[in-house]
Amino acid sequence: MNQRPFIVAIDGPAGAGKSTVSKVLARRLGFALVDTGAIYRCVALKARREGIALDDDGKLGELLGRVRVSFEVVGEDNHVFLDGEDVSAEIRTPENSMAASQVSSRPVVREGLLSLQRRLALQAPKGAILEGRDIGTVVFPDADAKFFLEADPTIRARRRYEELFQKGVERSLSDVLTDQVKRDQDDASRAVAPLKPADDARRVDSTELPLSEVVHTLEQEILARISRR
Ligand code: DC
Repeated sequence: MNQRPFIVAIDGPAGAGKSTVSKVLARRLGFALVDTGAIYRCVALKARREGIALDDDGKLGELLGRVRVSFEVVGEDNHVFLDGEDVSAEIRTPENSMAASQVSSRPVVREGLLSLQRRLALQAPKGAILEGRDIGTVVFPDADAKFFLEADPTIRARRRYEELFQKGVERSLSDVLTDQVKRDQDDASRAVAPLKPADDARRVDSTELPLSEVVHTLEQEILARISRR
C-alpha cells in the first residue's frame, strides 16, 4: 500500500524560529518545505500589485484562481516564486507583511489556499514540513508530528530585526516590535483559523534555547515517530 508522505506541522507566531528550524530539518530529513506564510504573502503581493482592496472578497476569490506559487531550494535559501517570478525578497517587506496578515483573515482566502497547501505537501516523495499558523489545527489536523514554537515577544522581535537587517531592510527594533505585536493580535483574534496550538502539539519555548537545540528536539521526536509508523 502506498503510504502518504510523513507530514510535520510547525506552527507559532512570527519570529519564534519556525523558518530557521524548518529549513534545517527539511534539509537533514530530505523533506519538502512548505512555507505557508509565504503563500499568504504572495496572495497579498499580487493583490497589491493589481490594486485589489485587501478586504474585497469577490476580487480576492477570483485572484486565487490565477495565483501560482512554487518553492525552490537554492543553496541555503528556500526561494519563493509567484507566477514564475522570484519574489523572495519582495514578499517580506514590512508593507507586504501587514498586507499578508490582512488577507489571511479573509475566510475566502484561507479556504481557497487549503488545497494548494495540501497538494504541495502530499506531492513530496518522502515527507513534508509545513510551517504556518494553522497547520496542526486546520490544514493537517492528522499530521504525523505537530509542534508549536513560541518565544518571548522581545526575543522574537530581535530575531526578526536581525533577519531583516541581514537582508538589507533597515527598520528600528521598536518598529519591528510594534508591527509584530499588531500582527500577533490580528492573527490570534481572527474568527477563522486563529493562531493557537493544536491540543496534541508539542510546545517548544525557544526564549532561552538556541535554535540548534530546538532543531535537535524536533528532529529526535520526528525520527522516533517515523520509526513507529
Ligand atoms: O509566517 P509569516 O510571518 O511569513 O506569515 C505571514 C502572514 O500570513 C502572518 O501574518 C499570518 C499569515 N499566516 C496564516 O494566517 N496562516 C498560515 N498558515 C501562515 C501564515
